[in-house]
Amino acid sequence: MSIGGKLAGKIAIITGSAAGIGRASCLLFAKEGAHVAAVDCDFEGNASLIAQIRNDGGTAEPLTADVACASDVDRVVEHVLSRWQRVDILFNNAGIVPGKKVHTLTEEEWDRAFAINVKSMYLFSRAVIPSFLQQGGGVILNTSSTTALRVAPDRALYTATKGAVLSLTKSMAVDYAADNIRVNCLCPGTTDTPSLRARLSAGGNTEEMTKKFIARQPLRRLGNSEEMAQAALYLVSDDASFVTGSAFQIDGGMSL
Ligand SMILES: NC(=O)c1ccc[n+]([C@@H]2O[C@H](COP(=O)([O-])OP(=O)(O)OC[C@H]3O[C@@H](n4cnc5c(N)ncnc54)[C@H](O)[C@@H]3O)[C@@H](O)[C@H]2O)c1
Repeated sequence: MSIGGKLAGKIAIITGSAAGIGRASCLLFAKEGAHVAAVDCDFEGNASLIAQIRNDGGTAEPLTADVACASDVDRVVEHVLSRWQRVDILFNNAGIVPGKKVHTLTEEEWDRAFAINVKSMYLFSRAVIPSFLQQGGGVILNTSSTTALRVAPDRALYTATKGAVLSLTKSMAVDYAADNIRVNCLCPGTTDTPSLRARLSAGGNTEEMTKKFIARQPLRRLGNSEEMAQAALYLVSDDASFVTGSAFQIDGGMSL
């Protein structure tokens, strides 16, 4: 693995690291020279990720945490700061995809989805921004979704959380632009990840569901985690130095 790369020497916190888009981003960011703090509640998934990164010559630390829990988030950021003395990139990616129509949702389901998908971004931002301000800048990337731009059936709660991520991103981009902190969000379309596979098989007819999902895509296929990671890399790197407040659509044309 080269010591150079687009993120050489950068310290990156990535949440939802154990699977899917987060995992592919950890692998790519490490390959591009970042030191990766991999945050997930899945201890075993994270352990296998870290082994893979270290085996490839990269630097990464596994951090087990619930991103919706303030004390967990503060512990993670304190650990990163004491290990590397700074943080350059925060990629708030962890998320869950609740289904159902509004009248069948419980209050607990509603609160938990907002806590994981939205509040976590506030908690991590609150914890890292003082360091960004002190060091003269930083980058935040939040994972939103195509559903923030084009709704899908039976996804009202999910769509509401991802719409909130979009608005939070734009507001923070304005609030911190003068401090050299760029804030963007990624809007993935249907992407082949463990979480998507679980949704595709939930109805009992995976093949039929997969066909239905592909039919929504002008490019006639699902996205993959590596494609999302490439977009994330662009947005957190200096290649995107003039990009802030954007909702970066990477969805095979689904939102058209
Ligand atoms: N896959 C898609 O089609 C798709 C489309 C649009 C947006 N997204 C968004 O992309 C992000 C990643 O999705 P994915 O498909 O890679 O999901 P995934 O389920 O494959 O991976 C998500 C990871 O987040 C972790 N996680 C979940 N809740 C957590 C918590 N409370 N604390 C710590 N870790 C937690 C899981 O353990 C898992 O490792 C999510 O925000 C999702 O909403 C996905």
